[in-house]
Amino acid sequence: MKLLAFNHKMNLLNSEIDKYIEEIKKNDLSNCVFCPSAIYIDKFKKNNISVGAQDISFALKGAYTGDLSILQLKEIGITYSIIGHSERRDYYMDNRFINTKIQLCLNNDVIPILCVGETLEENENGKTYNVCINEIDKAFIGNVGLEKIILAYEPIWAIGTDTIPTLDFIENNVSQIKKYVKSNYGIDIKVLYGGGINEDNIQQLSRLDVLDGFLVGSSSLKVDFIKKIIELNK
Ligand code: PGA
Repeated sequence: MKLLAFNHKMNLLNSEIDKYIEEIKKNDLSNCVFCPSAIYIDKFKKNNISVGAQDISFALKGAYTGDLSILQLKEIGITYSIIGHSERRDYYMDNRFINTKIQLCLNNDVIPILCVGETLEENENGKTYNVCINEIDKAFIGNVGLEKIILAYEPIWAIGTDTIPTLDFIENNVSQIKKYVKSNYGIDIKVLYGGGINEDNIQQLSRLDVLDGFLVGSSSLKVDFIKKIIELNK
């Protein structure tokens, strides 16, 4: 079964979340993990829904105003965390912390969903594969327990749009990444696709055997879409 990870980003108000949970609960959520704003994690847990964090602090505890520690998040029930999302890399200069965050996940029994992907310019210059493996190497180096990592290939230029690369392009890049990780780290890594997934393209994406699941952003706010992606990926 493919893993379906839903990244709410900074969306949904407290006044909206209970209704959202009631609606999604009508589906079989056994292969789903929801990454809501951290203030709602508890509500998902109380409904026996698997939850992940959208990010973790690079530190375990202390004077890091505004951050949330993996220990705090674990205590309220996360089993996954997105790491290195392009929005974190871009707005919060996260690149320098990714290796440490992966280490924290691996040491604390949290499955990291490591996001990698290229900008439009890099894509147009044929650099997609190199960008991805470079980000993988930087995140992996010196860490142990790498087999627990799940990758998400997310072309930055597709995120938040209704555009995705061609299926051939996704298939080719993801299989090259898998080959690279196998030959350099000896691991059969799982790779999700994310960026621009919507009601119109999820059917064709779901047919790609090379993918082990999906990381969905804005469409995960739509309960009809959740129902559809679950139906397609049973
Ligand atoms: P999107 O976001 O589905 O809204 O493109 C995906 C992501 O950022 O993980």
